[in-house]
Amino acid sequence: MTTRTLAVVSSGLSNPSSTRMLADRLAEATTAILADRDVEVKVTTIELRDLAHAITNNLLTGFADEKLESAIEAVTNADGLVAVTPIFKTSYAGLFKSFVDIIDNTALTDLPVLIGATGGTPRHSLALDYAIRPLFNYMHSVVVPTSVYAASEDWGTGADTVKALPDRIDRAARELANLMEHSERSQNVRDPFALDETYDQLLGGFQGN
Ligand SMILES: Cc1cc2nc3c(=O)[nH]c(=O)nc-3n(C[C@H](O)[C@H](O)[C@H](O)COP(=O)(O)O)c2cc1C
Repeated sequence: MTTRTLAVVSSGLSNPSSTRMLADRLAEATTAILADRDVEVKVTTIELRDLAHAITNNLLTGFADEKLESAIEAVTNADGLVAVTPIFKTSYAGLFKSFVDIIDNTALTDLPVLIGATGGTPRHSLALDYAIRPLFNYMHSVVVPTSVYAASEDWGTGADTVKALPDRIDRAARELANLMEHSERSQNVRDPFALDETYDQLLGGFQGN
């Protein structure tokens, strides 16, 4: 059995949080699809509300505390990312953007990402495509075609006019699972302290005496 790692980031502010609920559903669906293919998934869930102070400190000082550092590593070394934010003022939550802001510009390159959002109104679902998708495009991540938006009314009976929430979750999870299955990111974790050059190259042939 092979193993893949999945990071799940939720930036809901409430407790309980519909954003966390959507993030969990997406992670469970992805894990179940990969389990059917004999792939074990190790899930790390990151609640940004618990890291809000550390994220602000990092923005001000440039340093991450231990908990934040391990959250960043869980995301940057993962084979896949589920990233879900509530919609605030028709865009991502500030906390969500701040977390991405403190991640190195190159650290999410090629990372398979499934984006999701929750909102009070279904009318703001396009925020996924005009705000959240471009953010991960800028980071050179690979965002799966299906993104999942859940408005308050989606959590009801499931009698949607368009497509029931579980169907959208399953479709998006399948797209993420397809990419994660072939990802080698978690096996090629780069040591941040590794040298790009040998000591000989660094010394430029200097022998000393
Ligand atoms: C400051 C603020 C701004 C919001 N702006 C929007 C908005 O523009 N569009 C929308 O659909 N919902 C908006 N909402 C509602 C939240 O997106 C919605 O309640 C969300 O699902 C809450 O997620 P949570 O349960 O994980 O905290 C806003 C809520 C707050 C607190």
